Amino acid sequence: MSAHSVRIAPSLLAVDFARLADQIAMIEAGGADWLHIDVMDGCFVPNLTFGAKVIETCRRVSTLPLDVHLMVVEPEKYLESFAKAGASVLTIHAEAAPHLHRQVGYIRDLGCQAGVALNPGTSLEGIREVAADLDLVLVMTVNPGFGGQAFIAASLDKIRRTRALLDAAGSRALLEVDGGIARDTIAECWRAGADTFVAGNAVFGAADPAAEVRALRARCAETA
Ligand code: DX5
Ligand code: ZN
Repeated sequence: MSAHSVRIAPSLLAVDFARLADQIAMIEAGGADWLHIDVMDGCFVPNLTFGAKVIETCRRVSTLPLDVHLMVVEPEKYLESFAKAGASVLTIHAEAAPHLHRQVGYIRDLGCQAGVALNPGTSLEGIREVAADLDLVLVMTVNPGFGGQAFIAASLDKIRRTRALLDAAGSRALLEVDGGIARDTIAECWRAGADTFVAGNAVFGAADPAAEVRALRARCAETA
């Protein structure tokens, strides 16, 4: 793996919404690759966030690809409107998508990249049959619902096994990690085979979000 393939995706969940456009401009200046948008429905996870309107607003103020993470039940209800709002990647949870093969195909038909997320307690087997069709696998490194939680150390082994599963399937899917990613956890995730890193509090909680994006990327480069 080369350090060139590192993607840093700051999470909007930790943004100061009173300064939305400014904060997005800061992470763009720091070289962020994607903007991660956490959609929560208060049902799949015990928290509520945002929907198509916020995706559309981000699309207007930024040129970054929009990495939309749907923590919702019945994700198919929202896919078309999110694609129209400007989503680039649509990631649904395996736990909420019994017809994963069809739903992944539908996301691609909408012109978006298709991702599948796995909760910490969900077996990797949930993606084995669709691995070759995926653009992204998201291994949750916290239980979804809130920012600012501690990284679950046992995730490292799951990241390694996900990498092996994707390689064995000949899948070119990106391997994204989300939750508790910061300077002290990113390098070990990178070494374990992750290439795409969501970071909320680490970036937007920093005094200088642009510098933090660069610092996170540097941690991977140091251990490449
Ligand atoms: C958690 C969300 C994450 C969250 C990460 O359910 O999926 O994307 O924003 O926040 P941090 O990086 O603060 O753990
Ligand atoms: Zn997320």
